[in-house]
Amino acid sequence: MNSVIREELPTDVAAIHAVTIAAFMNAPHTDHTEQFIVDALRKAGALFLSLVAEQAGSVVGHVAVSPVTVSDGSSHWYGLGPISVIPELQGQGIGSLLMQEALQRLRDKGAAGCVLLGDPAYYSRFGFKAMSELVLPDVPPEYFQALAFQPSLPRGIVTYHESFNAQG
Ligand SMILES: CC(C)(COP(=O)(O)OP(=O)(O)OC[C@H]1O[C@@H](n2cnc3c(N)ncnc32)[C@H](O)[C@@H]1OP(=O)(O)O)[C@@H](O)C(=O)NCCC(=O)NCCS
Repeated sequence: MNSVIREELPTDVAAIHAVTIAAFMNAPHTDHTEQFIVDALRKAGALFLSLVAEQAGSVVGHVAVSPVTVSDGSSHWYGLGPISVIPELQGQGIGSLLMQEALQRLRDKGAAGCVLLGDPAYYSRFGFKAMSELVLPDVPPEYFQALAFQPSLPRGIVTYHESFNAQG
């Protein structure tokens, strides 16, 4: 079935929360706080992008993008995630559609680049790779990946929005 990728609407909030819980239920490397992170980002006005995948009127996937800071003062860098697809529909290309649309919109809005934390086996297909110049403390460096939309790369420690500490 075809998925439509669109911006979240106020009426999607509960569905996004539920989709995020479901997607991460059996995922590796999670402390099951992703739904709280998305809610906290929204409340803080820090959802630079919040896109849903809709099928037959239901939200089946979601991706959040929020600003990050880099210790060298570089601006216009963003963090992609959490990204979620309901378990029943994983592996059918919906996550790829969400990724591609999020990256296109970031480019269109003048972002300098994007970082994410995740499995390189998945995200390398979108052009992400680990870059030694950009560091997220306390995570294995190969899992912290970046995609620059312009030639100059920042160098420093990356900090996600404080909403990523949300626990409930
Ligand atoms: C990650 C996720 C959003 C991808 O969405 P999706 O719709 O399943 O992805 P697609 O169908 O576009 O792509 C499927 C491909 O990605 C791979 N893949 C999916 N999730 C992966 C993961 N966590 N690690 C490595 N590879 C993964 C699949 O093996 C498949 O590979 P193939 O094309 O070589 O067969 C989805 O699987 C999900 O919600 N997972 C649970 C939550 C999660 O781990 N989110 C990412 C961390 S923020």
